[in-house]
Amino acid sequence: MTGLWNLPRVELATVPTPLRPAPELSTMLGAEIWFKRDDLTGFGLGGNKVRALEYLLGDALSQGSDCLVTGSGPQSNWAMLAALAARRCGLDAYLVCYGSPVPATGNLLLAELAGARITFTGSPERASVDAGIATLADELRRDGRTPCVLPRGGATPIGALGYAHASLELAEQLLATGLRPRQLWLATGSGGTQGGLLAGAWWLQLPYEVVGVTVSRPAPQCLQQVGKLAAGVEKLLSAGAHGEAGVTSRAVTVIDGFLGPGYGIASAAGTDAARLVARTEGVFLDPVFGAKAMAALISASSGVVSHSRAISPLVFLVTGGVPTLFTATGGRT
Ligand SMILES: Cc1ncc(COP(=O)(O)O)c(C=O)c1O
Repeated sequence: MTGLWNLPRVELATVPTPLRPAPELSTMLGAEIWFKRDDLTGFGLGGNKVRALEYLLGDALSQGSDCLVTGSGPQSNWAMLAALAARRCGLDAYLVCYGSPVPATGNLLLAELAGARITFTGSPERASVDAGIATLADELRRDGRTPCVLPRGGATPIGALGYAHASLELAEQLLATGLRPRQLWLATGSGGTQGGLLAGAWWLQLPYEVVGVTVSRPAPQCLQQVGKLAAGVEKLLSAGAHGEAGVTSRAVTVIDGFLGPGYGIASAAGTDAARLVARTEGVFLDPVFGAKAMAALISASSGVVSHSRAISPLVFLVTGGVPTLFTATGGRT
């Protein structure tokens, strides 16, 4: 299990992020809840993608890349942080956004501030970004550049390694606090964070179930994607060793039903959940990811989510997304 230490990584995050009890919320929901504060990863305005970018940028630099190409929506936390991390590592940053140009607020404003070169596909389809990234990368190669090309969300096994590494950090904190959580809850989008956590839990034999709340894709697609990424991480972790099948044979847990009006658009249940957490614990949950995951946890605590129960004690991963707190629609624009 030496794979993690042999892979190139750049240090971007300030870790460990705090693991703290949420006493008021626990009382209200009748479950012992702790927050792992990855909104405080300490690069840009923080967030879960910082951990993925440590490995993705490490890999890009080791391959001799001189620029980074990725994309998503104009309010993507991922795209903004990828651009910021690229610039921090001395690479030019190119972002492809779906849709048409919009006023620069939230993440788009920050991406511009970071010096990202931003283009729009002109199509409202999220998938239009994938073709846009490929075309732009080809153009850059024709110009003699060496682009590091990353998919939406940075959802690759190398990116997902960030949360295998974070699992080690959490394991140390659990040891120090004596906490033995039965579940770890989080919002799932492209699947890299949950995939990395699943692989990490398997690797370290951690006691909890990783429960993802999908806020982007239908659950079956999400299950497949998380499983694939977890297996990819497992393979990287086992590099040089003869690892037995771990994650691939584990059940992936994804909860559906909390997307609300759509990806990137705040939901009523999420807004209520975010209000409750701000008013009880002094923690802001973003409207696109964290708020919807918390809405699911609140429902599960009251037994409303039939296919998954909140099993106490549990940890809720606060994944960041702070810039979208300041956008009118809570995400998509
Ligand atoms: C704030 C926040 N939380 C959660 C997620 C979901 O992470 P993943 O795409 O790895 O599933 C994202 C993805 O961009 C995010 O920005």
